[in-house]
Amino acid sequence: MATERTLSIIKPDGVQKQVIGKILTRFEDAGLRIVAAKMMQLDKNLAGSFYAVHKERPFYNDLVTYMTSGPVFVSVLEGADAVNKNRELMGATNPKEAKPGTIRADFADSIEANTVHGSDSLENARNEVAFFFPDL
Ligand code: CMP
Repeated sequence: MATERTLSIIKPDGVQKQVIGKILTRFEDAGLRIVAAKMMQLDKNLAGSFYAVHKERPFYNDLVTYMTSGPVFVSVLEGADAVNKNRELMGATNPKEAKPGTIRADFADSIEANTVHGSDSLENARNEVAFFFPDL
């Protein structure tokens, strides 16, 4: 299995609930290595361009408002099959559909406040890692 890198964001609800440590432990216990990390407050510009792919979706404005409502914890995870592994750990986008034991099933409140973001493909992972960590 190829070694990959993927981007993870612990969203404002995850930071607010003080579950950063619990979430990072899940990544590490699954064999993913945290190779870069920073806590940051996104502004509308940054959140808007990160989610530009969703610009035409009805939830775009609310998503940008939500992602700027408090600090987020952004990290890069590295390991075998990292993109898929992270997505399995997160569970479905809508926490109501997420499998028991996944991060979203255990911590998320709603499809918007769904605790974590993770890159959904290797190509997006490369772009998203470069977006937040251009020097990595
Ligand atoms: P994320 O993985 O960060 O990617 C885009 C985000 O949009 C998604 O998680 C959700 O938090 C949010 N979102 C809000 N409403 C919807 C929706 N109806 N379908 C998909 N994503 C949504």
